[in-house]
Amino acid sequence: MKFDLTPLLRPHLVNLQPYTSARDEYTGKEGIFLDANENPYGSVTDEDFNRYPDPYQLELKAEIAKIKQVKTSQIFLGNGSDEAIDLLFRAFCNPGKDNVILLPPTYGMYEVSAGINDVETRKIPLTADFQLQPDLILEAVDQHTKIIFICSPNNPSGNKVHREDILRLIREFNGLVVVDEAYIDFSDEPSFTTHLSDYKNLLVMQTFSKAWGLASLRLGMAFASKELIKILNRIKPPYNISGLTQQTVLAAIKNVDKVNAMIADILQEREYLRTELAQLDYIEKIHDTHANFLLIKMPNASHVYDDLIEEKIIVRNRSKVQLCEECLRVTVGTRPENEAFIQALKKIYAESFNL
Ligand SMILES: Cc1ncc(COP(=O)(O)O)c(C=O)c1O
Repeated sequence: MKFDLTPLLRPHLVNLQPYTSARDEYTGKEGIFLDANENPYGSVTDEDFNRYPDPYQLELKAEIAKIKQVKTSQIFLGNGSDEAIDLLFRAFCNPGKDNVILLPPTYGMYEVSAGINDVETRKIPLTADFQLQPDLILEAVDQHTKIIFICSPNNPSGNKVHREDILRLIREFNGLVVVDEAYIDFSDEPSFTTHLSDYKNLLVMQTFSKAWGLASLRLGMAFASKELIKILNRIKPPYNISGLTQQTVLAAIKNVDKVNAMIADILQEREYLRTELAQLDYIEKIHDTHANFLLIKMPNASHVYDDLIEEKIIVRNRSKVQLCEECLRVTVGTRPENEAFIQALKKIYAESFNL
């Protein structure tokens, strides 16, 4: 499908000259490097970190391209997916003028990033079973609507969003559609990356923070047409991904077997939690999940949340969030952690509510 990104881009960026680093001009690895004001003696640490890293992370992208079956030119890497979200606002949304569409309850950073960038948010709530309302979404669009953010599997509900609804929005909306797949590795749903060559207004986000167990490194991926990726690369800070992160993930990515084994364990534990919770009469609902967490409806959820903290068990209280009333979001832990959570829940209901 033909789609011209230029009219969407903020006008002052059309001719912006990006920062060019010394390492853009000479990409060889051999030589005497007197170009970047680095320390020639090495680092104060055992391992050396004195040289600036590859600004475009090409070696790492080549490996990611293989496992995700996309082209290197279709990949942007950010300091967490959160960096990609922020750059999208900065690239496409004129502060005080443009708007984006959010579909609550959903991941909170879309709204925070919109706020930081002074961009209006138009909220079209999901249905009671956490699906999209495409007609209402398209009605809310005007000429200043730049992005629709869709999260699937959705956080905090955990369900996958109907594929046909997402495809309809991609086809009918004349702006960008972001599909955030942070939790896709826990789902049987194929990624939307398979549609990248069909739709130039699609951007898919994934992350190394969840299934790969690398949250602390901060590495998020965005997949889109090479034109869209070029725009993000032009406005990103030059060395946004540290050398340590690039090296560590390059090594990690060869361990696909290990990540698959961890995913299998998490899915098994998710089932264990669901089965245990289903036996407790006072649990009102365990929402269907395709992620590594469960959204659980229970009486007095806020009170239970506080009591769990007393037991040093920390979950996410979503009970004040629209459509998640009286719900806690619980990440799947290891077997001992999950057992401790279930035991604590039983104790709290027995002691505080005589249940
Ligand atoms: C839906 C969703 N997207 C993105 C992120 C953030 O990912 P990252 O750690 O890559 O910034 C999260 C983190 O909780 C999330 O739930």
